[in-house]
Amino acid sequence: MTAPLRTITPWTSRGPVPSRPRRPRSTRIDSIEGGSDPRPMPSPSVRRVGIVGAGYMGLATALAFARRRRPVVVYDSNARLRRTLSSGRSPIHEVGVRELLRRETSSGAFRVAGTLGELVESADVIVLCLPTPRGAGGRIDLGPMLRGVRELAREIAATHGYRLVVVKSTVVPGTTVERIEPALRAATRRSPRELGVAVNPEFLAEGSMLADALRPERIVLGVSDPKAARTLRHVYATFPAPVHELSPSGAELVKYASNAFLAAKVSFANEVARLSERLGENVDRVARAVGADSRIGRKFLRAGPGFGGSCFDKDVRALVGRSRELGERFRTGEFALSVNEDQLRHVARLVRRALPTLEGKTVALLGVSFKAGTDDVRESRALPIARDLLRAGARVRLHDPVALARFAEEWTGGGWGSKDEVEFCATPAGALRGADLAILHADWPAYRAWPAAWSRAMRQPLLLDLRRAIPPARASKVGLRLVALGVGVPTSGRRPRSRSSAGGRRA
Ligand code: UGA
Repeated sequence: MTAPLRTITPWTSRGPVPSRPRRPRSTRIDSIEGGSDPRPMPSPSVRRVGIVGAGYMGLATALAFARRRRPVVVYDSNARLRRTLSSGRSPIHEVGVRELLRRETSSGAFRVAGTLGELVESADVIVLCLPTPRGAGGRIDLGPMLRGVRELAREIAATHGYRLVVVKSTVVPGTTVERIEPALRAATRRSPRELGVAVNPEFLAEGSMLADALRPERIVLGVSDPKAARTLRHVYATFPAPVHELSPSGAELVKYASNAFLAAKVSFANEVARLSERLGENVDRVARAVGADSRIGRKFLRAGPGFGGSCFDKDVRALVGRSRELGERFRTGEFALSVNEDQLRHVARLVRRALPTLEGKTVALLGVSFKAGTDDVRESRALPIARDLLRAGARVRLHDPVALARFAEEWTGGGWGSKDEVEFCATPAGALRGADLAILHADWPAYRAWPAAWSRAMRQPLLLDLRRAIPPARASKVGLRLVALGVGVPTSGRRPRSRSSAGGRRA
């Protein structure tokens, strides 16, 4: 990533067994955790884990540590964000965060530090969750990270005792060893016995960040000295996941290679979707059958408008660039990016197929976050889609259950357009009233229950479904004409005549 700090800011026991055990009342958090952790608490050689940067990733990571009996202290340079967190309120829309924040704040396991010095004073393990945004020429911008590291080094230099600094932000392979560790050592004058530096990438996906943080499939540690390795293993001892120990650069590569592979899978699915359209098939049926082979797997084969979000595009570009610096090419990444660019053009073709003339027409764009389950709009494909509709002369109305405010910020702040060019609607019905076309971009559950009244409210009951959220049977029940990405119209009910059925022989 990431956007390691996908942040809004620049840095922004066990007593006797009861004879009749009772099932505890299940809560949402319990279901996210998958049950309580039965293991006893390991020896408390780590006081608190310090989390620097409380964006999406920092906050989910902090809450997971707190929940897994590793008390945390969190610091973010954004004072407003600190106040929000201190009052137990969640600054982001993410399943379970609000509830866990309340619980762990009152248990004392989650604390917000007023200064970075206060965090360094009470934490021996300090996890950097700072942003590494997109920089020039496909590189990542290390500015926020290096500024944070310098500030942290000053605080560490003023304290006594061992500290372990853990880079969780997504940084290109080699960054920790070549840039971060030297900066820390130069400013603190501490040896590895007094100051450890390690890499520990995260694999959290927005919409399921807490579940991913509480029950990771793997823990990847990038360590170069035994003390750092022991300390980090101890920190993670309460997490039920296998640990992979590599060099710092190796751990950084694991993160990039993982995102690149997932991005390539999405691009692969999008190309299969175009073929499915041509062949009169449904890409989901094809992907289900392809993914049934365990060597391939079903996940990340959902065709759509192309990958968005703060991670895939930025990370794949950075890995392609880093590969060139290393004298290699990373063609899998180049392929994923190029197909992703094409997919936007493909969406434009589908819009024209649905509605050949956009001039003077009203289009409702439903779901503007980069995917359902989050209010994050970074790199959302809804941004270029809305812009292209406007350029083609359409009036654009937008709806999203949670992301409209962030979309408005990004729309104007990111230079996409002015606020009054598009209409922000509080309800799907409001967006659809009198519309000539609806485009479903992020498949929020509310859209799946499409009532007939929504179709009736439209001037033309026509939906371009970029995620295949509305099954054809439901569409016809609610009087909706459907154009769906990855779904072709069968040209005939008959299969093409095979050679054998035509009397030929199989070789
Ligand atoms: C991604 C990775 O999944 C995380 O493991 C990683 O930690 C994170 O990036 C990061 O580096 O921080 P995220 O960007 O939150 O997480 O979301 P994904 O669920 O991976 O989706 C990324 C994009 O691909 C979205 O636009 C989504 O709609 C699209 N996608 C995903 C598809 O079009 N089809 C799929 O089958 C899956």
